[in-house]
Amino acid sequence: MEAEIHAAAVQRGAETEHEAKDRMLRATSRSGLLQGSIFSSKICIFVVSITLFRYTTMSEQQQTRRPVIFSGMQPTHTLMLGNYVGALKNWVVLQETHDCIFCIVNLHALTISPVPAELRRRSLDAAAMYIASGIDPERSTIFIQSHVPEHSQLTWVLNCFTSMGECSKMTQFKEKTERHSANVGLFTYPVLMAADILLYQADLVPVGADQKQHLELARNLAERFNNRHSPTFTVPDPYIPKVGARIMSLQEPTKKMSKSDENAKATIYLDDAPDVVRNKLKRAVTDSGTDIRFNAEERPAISNLLTIFSVATGETIQQLEERFAGKTYADFKTELGEAVVEQLRPIQERYHALRQDEDTLKAILARGAEAARRRARKTMQKVYKKTGIIEFE
Ligand code: TYM
Repeated sequence: MEAEIHAAAVQRGAETEHEAKDRMLRATSRSGLLQGSIFSSKICIFVVSITLFRYTTMSEQQQTRRPVIFSGMQPTHTLMLGNYVGALKNWVVLQETHDCIFCIVNLHALTISPVPAELRRRSLDAAAMYIASGIDPERSTIFIQSHVPEHSQLTWVLNCFTSMGECSKMTQFKEKTERHSANVGLFTYPVLMAADILLYQADLVPVGADQKQHLELARNLAERFNNRHSPTFTVPDPYIPKVGARIMSLQEPTKKMSKSDENAKATIYLDDAPDVVRNKLKRAVTDSGTDIRFNAEERPAISNLLTIFSVATGETIQQLEERFAGKTYADFKTELGEAVVEQLRPIQERYHALRQDEDTLKAILARGAEAARRRARKTMQKVYKKTGIIEFE
């Protein structure tokens, strides 16, 4: 360096050795800066390439976070047409566009003290029915609630955020306690349901109209927790279908169709044999009059049957009214029977095949529980941290 400075001074002549030294130092520092900026550009290019590489190798799902859906059904009885129309059918469509988690909520079922062997069997029946109806275990997570202990853990925390009044005003609690002696589980049932949903940061919950009030509680609890601590839970929205949100009993059309109706003729179970379906629909009560016209308030029976028909075939209510203008209830019910039988046929075929291979079914559910648990754990860790519940690494 000394020699170079000296040479530079000599070359320029007019420059003193000191000036040459100063100029060389500035030049060196400029070239250092230049080299530095070349180096950082290289780093930039490297980082951008890695990011692009990772982006292009990421699955579609990772690139755009799809909104999360959570929903579930109680395996208290065999699933029935109302469950399919009000919820399950929509789940199948929503899994195309959403990140879906579907649960068999067996802990909820304990509130009505089921026979243990039946609860075990029906939990697997329900899982098979989800898949037979079109839920794809490769795309959606399917699992049994009790396999993810975080559901019970979050319920306890949320119990401490819920007032007695909120639980006691629930319509379903009031209705169920008329039929069963009230246990504490029945009382806090909606809190367990809120925990189910909030654990997975669900954006949307596809359910029938009867679950709206429970969904409201889940939203309130999420907001309350977020306000008291800091944003932790996504506040979920209900997704209630326009047609079929409340399928009514075939025998008492002012009451909703229910899995647990004591009158088996009131409900079409998804595994009912074709002749059973035809007979139940033939014997469905009808309103006075002969017109096949929709009017939910004045003619609840025929309106319910028109809804069932419309969902089964995809025809609008108006198209059906036109098609059956001048025809008898008997004609209508015969065609309705065939439409529902055809709707259920492929579901039943898949269901029976799945039910014969219990090992595969259990493997799907074990895989689902593992995936669900990973997600639930993350939420639970946040909740415990924010509420002061100590956890060791
Ligand atoms: P459950 O098992 O009674 O019913 C399952 C789903 O079916 C809908 N449904 C109906 N839809 C239309 N017409 C009917 N007659 C009819 N009957 C039932 C229900 O609205 C529901 O969507 N508490 C819930 C289960 C649950 C849950 C959850 C749901 C527990 N945790 C979290 C969603 C998210 C229940 O008892 O559904």
